[in-house]
Amino acid sequence: MRICLLGATGLVGRESLDLVARAWPGATLSLYASRDQELKHGGKTYKVEAAPKLEEEGAPKGDLALVALDDEHSKRFVPRLLSLGYRVIDKSNTYRGDAKVPLVAAGVNSNRVTEEVRLVANPNCTTIPLTLALKPLQQEFGLEDVTVSTYQAVSGAGIAALDGFLEQSKAGYQELDRFGNVFDPKAYAGNTVPHNGGTDESGFSSEERKLMFEAKKILELPELGVSAQCCRVGVAVGHYENAWVTFGKAVSPEQVAAVLSDSAKAPFVNFLAGAAGEGLSALYSVKARDRALVGRVRPDSRDKSGRTLCITVVGDNLRLGAATNAVRVASRWFKSEDPELQA
Ligand SMILES: NC(=O)c1ccc[n+]([C@@H]2O[C@H](COP(=O)([O-])OP(=O)(O)OC[C@H]3O[C@@H](n4cnc5c(N)ncnc54)[C@H](OP(=O)(O)O)[C@@H]3O)[C@@H](O)[C@H]2O)c1
Repeated sequence: MRICLLGATGLVGRESLDLVARAWPGATLSLYASRDQELKHGGKTYKVEAAPKLEEEGAPKGDLALVALDDEHSKRFVPRLLSLGYRVIDKSNTYRGDAKVPLVAAGVNSNRVTEEVRLVANPNCTTIPLTLALKPLQQEFGLEDVTVSTYQAVSGAGIAALDGFLEQSKAGYQELDRFGNVFDPKAYAGNTVPHNGGTDESGFSSEERKLMFEAKKILELPELGVSAQCCRVGVAVGHYENAWVTFGKAVSPEQVAAVLSDSAKAPFVNFLAGAAGEGLSALYSVKARDRALVGRVRPDSRDKSGRTLCITVVGDNLRLGAATNAVRVASRWFKSEDPELQA
């Protein structure tokens, strides 16, 4: 098996290297990024080539390509990879809205990955953990409405943003300033900021629109009511989401707990009992990197019908929210040797 990783030097690409070694240890790897370079990762040195070499005549053909580039470069390289015969999983936003391309959260709608499919879009890093929690509940109780507020880590913005955030945090926290005046109020360090890139005439940002659109497409519920507000918090890795979920009938927290604790019904979910949220934090998600942590289930006291519950979902955005999902999707075509990565 020959696997091609595009964007191998980025945050998601590096995670993919570790996961590919677990899923398909015998595979031959070709790594690509913006230019020829060496990548030191996990005690090994990898040769990385400039992605435009894939456009040359005689570029290597292969079986699977995992693409972790921005939208512009996905648009450029994905068609070429398909023409070279690769099955492709693209992690950017480029193909998610395309009705012909399946948008797949592994464990939610993995059945969309059939032999005939050549290209799959990997969903956004907030959509994957949220739909992992919602799908089993939808199947059991029906789903009418979801309101979600996200608290997203800086690594979601890529390696340059993360490294800048770490440097600014290191410098800023040297001073014991109780009000955080040492930090830049526009930047991530020591701060909470709106996730406002791509805000359109609706007033919602592209991150908010992605979450709303993708949840409906993956759950195959075009009429589902979804509203989202997103922000970034001064955390390196791990996206935290608070959701208000209205079901088709009255549901108790105990019924939700029973469904989400059953791994046959709720794959890749770790349910944490108790309304206080013990074991539920961004950093706990980095200790269970391939799972959605779900808990803090309690009734919304405004809803007299008993159909609306408050639920918290947390996931490692680089792994569950990106690299792990792509490997699990690919496991539908190429069986994974690690059962945790098999969807
Ligand atoms: N970070 C997350 O939490 C997350 C979650 C879900 C989805 N995604 C999506 O995954 C993709 C990658 O995200 P990331 O966070 O890994 O980004 P990143 O850390 O910024 O990495 C970007 C990668 O793109 C490569 N690249 C840049 N310019 C290029 C060019 N001209 N030609 C070829 N390659 C080029 C970089 O290579 P060089 O090192 O050579 O510059 C690097 O390998 C994005 O579409 C993002 O939206 C990210």
